[in-house]
Amino acid sequence: MLFTQHLLALAALAVSTLAIDCPGSDTAGTPCTSGVFVLSARGTDESSNAPFQNGPNYTDQQGQQDVATALVNKAGGYCRSLPYAASPGLLYFVSAPTRRFNDIASINYGIKQGQSIIKEYVNRCKSTVNPRVILLGYSQGGQVMTSVLIGGQGYPTLEDYKQYITGGAFFASPCFVAKYPIDGGNSTTSGLFARGPISYNYFSTTYSNRLRNYCQAGDEFCAAGGFADANIAIHRNSVNTYKQEAINFLLPLV
Ligand SMILES: *[C@@H]1O[C@H](CO)[C@@H](O)[C@H](O)[C@H]1NC(C)=O
Ligand SMILES: *[C@@H]1O[C@H](CO)[C@@H](O)[C@H](O)[C@H]1NC(C)=O
Repeated sequence: MLFTQHLLALAALAVSTLAIDCPGSDTAGTPCTSGVFVLSARGTDESSNAPFQNGPNYTDQQGQQDVATALVNKAGGYCRSLPYAASPGLLYFVSAPTRRFNDIASINYGIKQGQSIIKEYVNRCKSTVNPRVILLGYSQGGQVMTSVLIGGQGYPTLEDYKQYITGGAFFASPCFVAKYPIDGGNSTTSGLFARGPISYNYFSTTYSNRLRNYCQAGDEFCAAGGFADANIAIHRNSVNTYKQEAINFLLPLV
């Protein structure tokens, strides 16, 4: 009996799984859907696209499509990439530790884009559908998405829109702070650009029932684990490590 159920479940999974992409929200638009609108932010662009621009690879979601696919296959809807530069090098790596959250162009633009895309979608669609927004972000993308929700770099929180944020999963975000209910993974140390306790506490109390901020112990950025190869490998692999946990956490919410 159990075995039969298992086979049926596998068969159902096989027919219903359709991998989805996350094209850019600027080019593909954000149609109103009664399913989920997944907005996903990539991590730092290692191919060094010019700063201040949306590089041609901003749709490269480093595995987050798998989470989007699971949610969209259940709930309907679609996924879009957050158009932002995800700049490496000077703008992020070097300036960030000294300038912290004050003037990081790539992240700044990402926050602006994220907040305006969510507000525009909700305001345009709430009279026809129940807007259900899912946010995903890896590395710099997780840092951007955290600030989209809780503010930073001169931007306010998204407090007035929080009821439309149905869920989210962030991976290896440098602004991770350890030991809060919103955290996933096993890091007991905070990130290189950890948020302050007041804003992180707001993040955790407001969103921990529907969002997980994943960080593995030893991660180069989110756990400030150091810059050895092992730390870098943990960081690079973070979406792979936690995407199934994220899917299991988010599926009941959609
Ligand atoms: C985009 O990403 C792909 C695969 O990650 C890489 O091969 C390619 O060189 C990148 N293109 C640019 C213009 O950076
Ligand atoms: C943390 O979790 C990862 C992934 O499950 C595991 O491989 C690693 O051994 C754990 N590390 C510690 C210090 O518990």
